[in-house]
Amino acid sequence: MKQRVLSGVRSTGNLHLGNYFGAIKNFLEMQENYECYFFIANLHALTTHPDPELLKKSVRATLVEYIACGLDPEKSTIYVQSDLPEISELYALLNMLAYKGELEKCTSFKEKIKKHKENINAGLLTYPVLMAADILIHRAHKVPVGKDQEQHLEMTRNFALRFNHLYGVNFFPEPEAFDMSGHLVKIPGLDGSGKMGKSESEGNAIFLREDADLIRKKVMRAKTDTGPTQPNQQKPDEIKNLFTLMNLVSKKETLQFFEDAYNNCTIRYGDFKKQLAEDIIQFTNPFKEKISALENDTKYINNIAESGAEKARVSAAKTLDAVHEIMGLKSIWK
Ligand code: TRP
Repeated sequence: MKQRVLSGVRSTGNLHLGNYFGAIKNFLEMQENYECYFFIANLHALTTHPDPELLKKSVRATLVEYIACGLDPEKSTIYVQSDLPEISELYALLNMLAYKGELEKCTSFKEKIKKHKENINAGLLTYPVLMAADILIHRAHKVPVGKDQEQHLEMTRNFALRFNHLYGVNFFPEPEAFDMSGHLVKIPGLDGSGKMGKSESEGNAIFLREDADLIRKKVMRAKTDTGPTQPNQQKPDEIKNLFTLMNLVSKKETLQFFEDAYNNCTIRYGDFKKQLAEDIIQFTNPFKEKISALENDTKYINNIAESGAEKARVSAAKTLDAVHEIMGLKSIWK
């Protein structure tokens, strides 16, 4: 039997190159070898009270982008979190096993309450319980997550073990982090910082649906130094970052040409960036085209979401039914 892999993505839409090389490419590989569940986490988004219409729009945009990147509804089960009411019910049941103290100790909770003092709601506190419900509803074995989610995954393991122990069953497997470090590519930002991200400075990230002119602008504005003065000199971070990007999107010869130019101090950053911008445009073009084709095919996208939810609910209902049985919520009136 294939192991089950599960991952949730935030419903923010607007994937950038960092998301693509850092996570999505791994998802594409996993689809070939595991029973995969991928979903859009729109319930988690509610902690910050988004506008309902905007929330719907970003869920659709996120789904479109993931499909455009190659998530395949034939190979994986792809769905929207709120289309599975079983998740919300398991969340309510797991809340009975989650202690206030451990939830308050969670790093992401502590950070969030510092940032949003005016909106410290119970959903924020129990965010890790909802995430545990996401994972345990399919009794997943492996969860590909970044470092920032490791603590949440550890809490999921605690809830799973506690459930098994309390009810004397061996029902939930302990989900482990899918170690992506072997193939994890860290994508640098354009502002000289180590990481491409949406919340970093303006112009730091390049989105898959980015307009060609904006790509040119962003790349041309990327930070550079005054240039190498000695042959084979070490590259400062901001230059290394641009070379890392070029390595991902350009032809080998192009990369080699500019490596050589750097090493013999003849590199002209203007030309280098122009070439990088054109190669990023080439690379993102097919994504852009797929995204806009999918956006115009509402029927197809709706169909993916509907059949994904239907498929996911089979597995979710099975788990929930067993949980009902174990917790004494079934066959009360016989
Ligand atoms: N909390 C995750 C994030 O912020 C998203 C998420 C929600 C998730 N539920 C999940 C990830 C279940 C993995 C498994 O990125």
